[in-house]
Amino acid sequence: MSVVLLERRGPVAIVTINRPKALNALSPEVMVRLGEVIAEVEADRSLRVMILTGAGGKAFVAGADIAEMRGFDILAAERFAEEGQRVLSRMEGLSIPTIAAVSGFALGGGCELAMACDIVLAGPRARFGQPEVKLGVIPGFGGTQRLVRRVGQARALDLVLTGRMVGADEAVSMGIASRKVGEDVLAEALAVADEIRSAGGVAVSFAKRAVQDHADGDLKAGLAAERHLFALCFASEEQAEGMSAFLEKRPAAFAGAPDQG
Ligand code: CAA
Repeated sequence: MSVVLLERRGPVAIVTINRPKALNALSPEVMVRLGEVIAEVEADRSLRVMILTGAGGKAFVAGADIAEMRGFDILAAERFAEEGQRVLSRMEGLSIPTIAAVSGFALGGGCELAMACDIVLAGPRARFGQPEVKLGVIPGFGGTQRLVRRVGQARALDLVLTGRMVGADEAVSMGIASRKVGEDVLAEALAVADEIRSAGGVAVSFAKRAVQDHADGDLKAGLAAERHLFALCFASEEQAEGMSAFLEKRPAAFAGAPDQG
């Protein structure tokens, strides 16, 4: 059985980190396979949403694999972090929305993996944290960078410097998780995926691009990009259908919406 599984449920890709005995720890093998799976998702134009989850229910991902990292020298560590950052950035850059379905531990590289997803759903037993300093290292897959952008410097430093874990409620209040959901986090993620699919696919990908490409940039450049993408929507059939459907008081029939398979 592969260490990363890709299942297609119609236009929804479910990517599962599959090392439950090691709490889905990210070994170099997992990162290579995850990179391949992300490339497959990227190439498959029939996909509309990607869900990322962990096997076994106890953990989303409990971090990079400590047993594998223990023997790293400087060069091996640099390569591992480089590969991890490359894979996470590629996933973050997918044109389709990504949802992290977090049940149990999302620690270190696992928290970083979730932070590279667009929407993070936290089950009641979710535990997030960046415990790297307790191992004598610092986060290497973006934990000192994406976390700050998501939750602000004060909250990110609180987590990164103490290594403490936070539960679902605190994760939502900090902005690490988008929402707290019920025990069956995958079912909740599939429901969110359906909600996204019932909207216009082009609009969804433009909205993601507008937010993501300019999250770090200045407001002026971001507003310019937003208005260009807004205008571009008017070249799509989706805009005609979406607005006509509203005015005709009927549901919009967008390609790939759940009721149309
Ligand atoms: N790497 C390798 N193996 C891991 C692991 C990890 N990150 N996390 C858990 N495991 C393994 C354990 O070694 C154990 O294996 P054995 O059964 O063979 O002994 C198995 O998974 C179950 O774990 P525990 O027995 O420890 O389970 P627990 O319920 O007592 O504790 C836990 C759960 C609190 C998550 C604990 O496992 C833990 O603290 N894990 C490490 C978390 C961590 O420090 N993550 C950061 C890694 S560094 C990093 O990620 C760097 C980066 O940014 C890239």
